[in-house]
Amino acid sequence: MDKPNVYVTRMIPMEGIDLLKEHCNVEVNGEDRPLRRDELLKNVKGKDGILCLLTDRIDAEVFDTALTAKGFANYAVGFDNIDVEEATKRRIPISNTPGVLTDATAEMAWALLFAVGRRVVESDRFMRTVEWSGWGPLQFIGGDVTGKTLGIIGAGRIGTAMALKSKGFAMKVLYTNTTVNEVLEKEVGARKVSFEQLIKQADYVSIHVPLLPETRHLINGEVLRKMKPTAYLINTSRGPVVNEAELVAALREGEIAGAALDVYEFEPRMVAGLTDLDNVVITPHTASATKDARTNMAVKAANNLLAMLKGKRPPDCINPVIYER
Ligand code: DGY
Repeated sequence: MDKPNVYVTRMIPMEGIDLLKEHCNVEVNGEDRPLRRDELLKNVKGKDGILCLLTDRIDAEVFDTALTAKGFANYAVGFDNIDVEEATKRRIPISNTPGVLTDATAEMAWALLFAVGRRVVESDRFMRTVEWSGWGPLQFIGGDVTGKTLGIIGAGRIGTAMALKSKGFAMKVLYTNTTVNEVLEKEVGARKVSFEQLIKQADYVSIHVPLLPETRHLINGEVLRKMKPTAYLINTSRGPVVNEAELVAALREGEIAGAALDVYEFEPRMVAGLTDLDNVVITPHTASATKDARTNMAVKAANNLLAMLKGKRPPDCINPVIYER
């Protein structure tokens, strides 16, 4: 029997590609950049399966073009780039890569927390550009971490991992979530509070919700004004959860002490003024960029796609309802 033809929209770690190659003819976007829309449409045509990235918009037009595709395996845990409702209507399976990037992302949230709170990046910039005159009692005073209050917005897999890692810093942990998180309550004495209570009381607010219509601009000017002026915001979830223009204004006005962002509202573009601010740390959506996490994501995405090609339900199916009808 002929091998199925699959398309990978950008190079991923070789372990995933090799796994696909054992069973399929694999074509990979040869450019190290996201595909333009016309390229995406051209390349998915006639393929049996697609391994796509969070930078690819997968919608009705793509489904209309990739008519022979038996499924789409997203190389990410987030899947707001995919019109899952449309896929479900058409009974096209969609998968993501949960679990394997949880710790890597939580670790990055901590790296950002320290970077902005203890002014690591700002200090590094200073050391490289200014002739340092030596130790100074008032130099680069930042926020304390030990004993302070950590606010976790969204206590799912990654939010939980971030909160659990606070143990060593004896932090008071507050969280918002639709359900009580027993693990957090038991392990770190966390308390489920209202969104309002969390933003008013937390010294560090870390966002871990998916991008949904109801979470878009969850953090806006009004919310930022309610935060402590000494508080920091950390975002490793999705950019549009924060109204970036209003964040810039709040940072300028000193309404909060700082922000550390790995994701952006208009990715890859950043809103005007963000990069001019010293109290901001910015990284290029690299929270899951560790060797193990990215390799395991590749293997997971490949396994999901292989299952779809066999007409089986993929292990990480986002729309399992398609198998129930
Ligand atoms: C995800 O998986 O959703 C991250 O944003 C990238 O790894």
